[in-house]
Parts: sequence; C-alpha cells; structure tokens
Amino acid sequence: MLHDKTIGVIGAGHIGNAVIGGLLRAKLTSPKNIFASRKNSENLEELTKTFGVHVTTDNKKVARSSQILILAVKPMNAKEVLNDIKEVVSPSHLIISVMAGIRTSFINSFLEVSCPVIRSMPNTPVLVDAGATAISKGNFANDEHLKIAHTIFKSVGTVEVVPESLLDAVTGLSGSGPAYIYMVIEAMTDGGVKMGIPRQIAFRLAAQTVFGASKLVIETGKHPAILKDEVTTPGGTAIAAVHELETHGLRTMLINAVSTATVRSKELSKIIEENDN
Ligand SMILES: NC(=O)c1ccc[n+]([C@@H]2O[C@H](COP(=O)([O-])OP(=O)(O)OC[C@H]3O[C@@H](n4cnc5c(N)ncnc54)[C@H](OP(=O)(O)O)[C@@H]3O)[C@@H](O)[C@H]2O)c1
Repeated sequence: MLHDKTIGVIGAGHIGNAVIGGLLRAKLTSPKNIFASRKNSENLEELTKTFGVHVTTDNKKVARSSQILILAVKPMNAKEVLNDIKEVVSPSHLIISVMAGIRTSFINSFLEVSCPVIRSMPNTPVLVDAGATAISKGNFANDEHLKIAHTIFKSVGTVEVVPESLLDAVTGLSGSGPAYIYMVIEAMTDGGVKMGIPRQIAFRLAAQTVFGASKLVIETGKHPAILKDEVTTPGGTAIAAVHELETHGLRTMLINAVSTATVRSKELSKIIEENDN
C-alpha cells in the first residue's frame, strides 16, 4: 500500500523519528521514498546516518517531493510550517498531522486547500513500537486515507479510529497517560525502597509489574476487575492494599486526571488556533 508512495515528515523529532523508524522496520517503504525535515541542519545528519532517508531544512521541498505529508512539529510551530507548505500543497496530498490540538478543519482552512487530512494522537511509547494512537479523518478524507494512516501508526503500536470530537479525550487518556503511569512506577519503587528493597531492584520490579499487568489485560482480554479479583486472596496482602488505594480514591483520582487533561487539551487547542503568532 505504501511502497508506491513518497512520504514526507516535517518535524522529524521524537514522534517523527519514531514513525520513520517504524515504517522502515516494518518494511512498509524504503528510505529512498522518505523525505524528512527539521529546523536545525545539524540535527539532520543523525537522521541520514540512522535511516538513510532524504533530509533537508526546506519544508517546501519535502512537500513537493511527497504524496503523504506527516506534520510532526510542536503545535506552536504549526502555523509557521503550514505557511511554508501552503503554496505547494494540492488536493492530491494526504496530510497526516500528529500536532496536538490542531483541528483538521483548521489545517484545511489555513492551507486553503481541500486536501484529505487525518489527525492523530499518538503517545511516546511509539518510540519503542508500543504506542497507542487514535486517528480521525477530516472533511475531505475517506476510508482509504484512514487506512493509510492506520498502516503507518500500526508500525509503532496499536491504532484506534475515533471521531475527531473525541481526540481531546484521547489526549487526556492515552496521549498524557504515560505520565500517570510513570508516577505509579516511581511511587511503587519508593514503596519498595521504604520496605528495604534496593532502589534499582525495586525500580525493575515496579516497571515490569506494570508491563506484565498490561500484557495480561491485553492478551487475556479479561476485565481488569476480574484479574484484580484473581490476585486478591481473602484476608491476604493484595486486598489489604486495594482497600488502602480505595480509601485514598485512586480510581476517582485517575478518572479526574483524564477529564482534567481533556478539558486542558480543549483549552490549549483554542489558544493555539486563536494565537496569531
Ligand atoms: N511527545 C508526545 O507525547 C506526543 C504525543 C502526541 C502527540 N504529540 C505531538 O507530536 C508533535 C511532535 O512532538 P515531539 O515530542 O516529537 O516534538 P519534538 O521532538 O520537539 O519534535 C519536533 C520537531 O519539529 C522540528 N521543527 C520545529 N520547527 C520546525 C520548522 N519550522 N520546520 C521543520 N521542522 C521544525 C524540530 O526540529 P529541531 O529539533 O531541529 O529544532 C523538532 O525536530 C507535537 O505536535 C506534539 O503535540 C506528541
């Protein structure tokens, strides 16, 4: 599906790099079909060394050379980049944006082109091919475009298709979610240290516990409550800890965290789009 396409990545930073790596590792395309840009030329050398793709600081050149254009700059650089490519983008380009908070309709109206736009919300585990990405299609995109974006993000993890109206909630859940889990790993490590386990051992045990529990949920498909019940022996240690977590409102805290981040995502989206700089 992608072998006959040229792919441009404008803003080949963490996420852009991860996507390039995923595409090449999955052999979905070859380096000669990939064109990548960054702001600073010294950062591009590494990209050529690692992937052998074409690199440049000229975003127009990337847009001219590519049929699929992945926009992976920070949201604050969105207008600058859209300005750069405005005169080059045509209705036959497929734009895939990973820029948080930038609506597909904003991209179309800024570019003044009715090209298909897919908006995505990946998360940082795409760096280790374990990302959770949600994708949505804009007004001019069809299922074929969605399929292309799905294939691209599948190379770095799992993909869900959602209406664009849910992308702020996705930002609150899986986009920002790694931060919540890092806090859990850090806190469980501290708990182990408090009880006398050397920090490095406690850290490895905590991280692997989160990884293993997730794997079990995903691979068994069992409801997490059932898996929790399976590890809580009557009168045992786990149920004593679960009681402690319930007392402090762990579940309410996490529900509130997702909803607060969702609200913040909507606010930021407005600020970015309304800001004229
Ligand atoms: N990280 C996450 O958890 C996450 C999750 C979901 C979505 N996103 C979205 O993904 C996007 C990228 O995030 P990131 O973490 O990958 O950021 P990043 O590592 O800072 O990468 C952004 C890249 O954009 C380049 N850039 C800046 N201005 C440019 C310009 N005018 N032309 C071309 N390239 C330009 C930078 O180049 P230089 O390095 O050379 O300056 C940098 O390589 C953001 O929009 C973010 O909202 C991130």
